[in-house]
Amino acid sequence: MARLDWDETSYSVSNQKLDTQHQEFIRLYNNLHETLMTGTPEEASEEKATTLKRLINYANQHFAAEEVFMKDVKFPELKKHIQLHQEFITKINGLQHDLTEGAIVLNTSLIKYLRNWIIYHIATEDKKYAQYVEKNP
Ligand SMILES: [Fe+2]
Ligand SMILES: [Fe+2]
Repeated sequence: MARLDWDETSYSVSNQKLDTQHQEFIRLYNNLHETLMTGTPEEASEEKATTLKRLINYANQHFAAEEVFMKDVKFPELKKHIQLHQEFITKINGLQHDLTEGAIVLNTSLIKYLRNWIIYHIATEDKKYAQYVEKNP
């Protein structure tokens, strides 16, 4: 499982602010990935807790900005998109809850989930509003 690198073609939604926020998600993922691969088990569990906390805060902030943007441009799939955001928040909240309850959150499954989510959500779902804006300027 490798780190992620931002690339304009795959990830850009043609909006500076939202692109910068997506880059921050990738940065959070890469930090987590690096610590889980190279850190001690103690560092790894600390990093998991910190990253999940940051992710929840950051995702809430980003999703709010993105939803305002989609509303402004009258993106027709807004409702479905909001639901996808809520699913992510629910999943991350659940993982954080598991961690604080002492349940095992596997490094590999966390990394895999985040990686797949970032790639799929930004490159496929977020791209849809960018394509909509492009077609309906
Ligand atoms: Fe989104
Ligand atoms: Fe997004």
